[in-house]
Amino acid sequence: MNSKLDEAKRRDPSQIDFETPEQFAAHASQLHTCPHGRLLLASCRSGSALASKVAEVYQSQLNQAGSQEELAFLDQIDYQFSDGETCVRLEQDVSGQDAYLFQALQDPSAGRSVDQNIMALLTGLRALREWGANRVTAVLPYLAYARQDKPTQFKREPTSAKLLADLLISAGIDRLITFEPHIAAIHGIFGQIPVNSIRSLQIFEERFARYQADSQVIAVAPDAGASKMIIYFSRALELNSAIASKFRPEPEKAAIAEVIGDFKGKQTALLLDDMIGTGGTIYSLAQKLRADHGIEDLQVAVAHNLCLDEAHQRMNELYQEGLLRRLIVTNSIPQTQAFRTLPCLEIIDLAPIFSRIINRIHYNRPLADLLQTGAA
Ligand code: R5P
Repeated sequence: MNSKLDEAKRRDPSQIDFETPEQFAAHASQLHTCPHGRLLLASCRSGSALASKVAEVYQSQLNQAGSQEELAFLDQIDYQFSDGETCVRLEQDVSGQDAYLFQALQDPSAGRSVDQNIMALLTGLRALREWGANRVTAVLPYLAYARQDKPTQFKREPTSAKLLADLLISAGIDRLITFEPHIAAIHGIFGQIPVNSIRSLQIFEERFARYQADSQVIAVAPDAGASKMIIYFSRALELNSAIASKFRPEPEKAAIAEVIGDFKGKQTALLLDDMIGTGGTIYSLAQKLRADHGIEDLQVAVAHNLCLDEAHQRMNELYQEGLLRRLIVTNSIPQTQAFRTLPCLEIIDLAPIFSRIINRIHYNRPLADLLQTGAA
């Protein structure tokens, strides 16, 4: 065989139209760098910002470790027909690959709805599945619909969190990686599909490490749901803790009845929650802490900021009043320009942790040290 052609085929196996054992042996390392196939990162449009950062981090870790491997990255695989339907096209062969598809289900920065982003994700997953990816993992830094995991006291609501899980399974996922999902029983609703949840606790502990054993500081849980996390957090930082008794007089409205805890000598309150929606929870709690407990310095850390206008107004008001000193969020959801310009906002980049998790999963390595389970 022509040696130039032979060399080209060795470098690009997709050029081969009839495989021989010798050729296969020559390019096998390109096709099977691990038991699940070659690593492929992919993203839908709304997942692109974080996925691009993860690809960058992963590639630089490869380079630093002396690897020649060029990471395959299929960016922004979805688009919309003029009638509004979603379409996905894969610009390269995915057969036999270990694919990780990123999507930001909530993307206020792009003006696409949660439901549009879900359809793009499902279509992307199905494309990877139908075109022969060996393993398909959905990477969803923010799991939308997770709050709808049971009917509330309001009217005949379905468990939409389970419906979304069923849709993802039906689209063809083999695995899910997510970050601080609201729903504690997440593994239950995904059945036999492995779910890896990255927790925010350790990330927040690092951000607040300067307050270790500071007797003027108290950690506050905004509701019963956040109380377990606050217990672990306050024990790690040797702080006193308190818990708010929150109720919702109607959907999307939050009211704080009381805050249970010893505030004697406390000036600063550290508030941890999984998300900011309308901002009502943090706003009501901030007012209560100042009025009833003399707190003048509030520092908040949340895993997901949905960037709703109402929340921006409330956080801005607390900042202008001098009460909200720090608002720590992550890039699980692309943050809007309005939030980015809030002077007290700090955005934690999740790319390094996602890069490490994907690397461990790809090579079947243990995850226990990266995924805490204590505060679940
Ligand atoms: C509730 O269970 C969650 O942990 C958050 O506290 C809640 O979703 C925040 O919503 P909002 O900002 O609308 O009060």
